[in-house]
Amino acid sequence: MTTVLAEGAHDTSQIPAPEGSVTITVKILRFNPELDSEPHWESYDVPALPTDRVLNLLMNIKNYVDGTLSFRRSCAHGICGSDAMQINGINRLACKVLVKDLMAGGGKQTTVTIAPIKGLKTEKDLYVDMEPFFEAFRAVKPYLIAYGNEPTRERIQSIADRERFDDTTKCILCACCTSSCPVYWSDGSYFGPAAIVNAHRFIFDSRDEGAEERLDILNDAEGVWRCRTTFNCTDACPRGIQVTKAIQEVKRALLFKRV
Ligand code: SF4
Ligand code: SF4
Ligand code: FES
Repeated sequence: MTTVLAEGAHDTSQIPAPEGSVTITVKILRFNPELDSEPHWESYDVPALPTDRVLNLLMNIKNYVDGTLSFRRSCAHGICGSDAMQINGINRLACKVLVKDLMAGGGKQTTVTIAPIKGLKTEKDLYVDMEPFFEAFRAVKPYLIAYGNEPTRERIQSIADRERFDDTTKCILCACCTSSCPVYWSDGSYFGPAAIVNAHRFIFDSRDEGAEERLDILNDAEGVWRCRTTFNCTDACPRGIQVTKAIQEVKRALLFKRV
């Protein structure tokens, strides 16, 4: 008997179903610039174990159903920051979200929606042009600036001084924060939270001498003052960085000229 598939649905019978698997309906916002004028939803019923990650579902669709499905991923362990996407409308890393945390209760059919992150141009399916994001990152000089003679030994730092910027060292440049920021959506010229987090990492480093240069850059019309303290960025960060707090600290450093 031939199964009639709903519009936008695909035959997924080739995907192996391990013992104990459940069926998850994965709806993906697909876009191929060579064929489509607009993105559209396509649907895949994927067998999955509760301990699978959303990235596994995407890999199975790509490997068994449609090799043209495009998305970025590398480490699969929440380290490289390359698989940020909107999962059920929230910016997450596909490799860090477990199926069991998305499953509908009461034995109901689970549907998971996956779309590209917002605020950056979609190149194809789930991957976006990250260049504006990295341009803002580079603009804040995210590297140690030190003048004078090279030291003859390592640059010493106390534990307390290292602690001062510990939180912002954890950034993996995934763009979950920046692409969840309403100010960034409305005007892409705002530096965005990730760039400010990476400026913070050096501004508050006692070994660095470039704080003033960076603060000047962030005092710009497109800098920290555009932030409306809505906390979307902090909620979105998969590394648990206190993004809004870091932005507030940079604002305070500008107001009181103190680092
Ligand atoms: S707190 Fe600021 S940077 Fe973060 S999402 Fe809100 S407006 Fe954007
Ligand atoms: S601050 Fe968090 S959400 Fe933003 S880019 Fe870095 S790791 Fe990603
Ligand atoms: S694949 Fe590297 S963070 Fe998800």
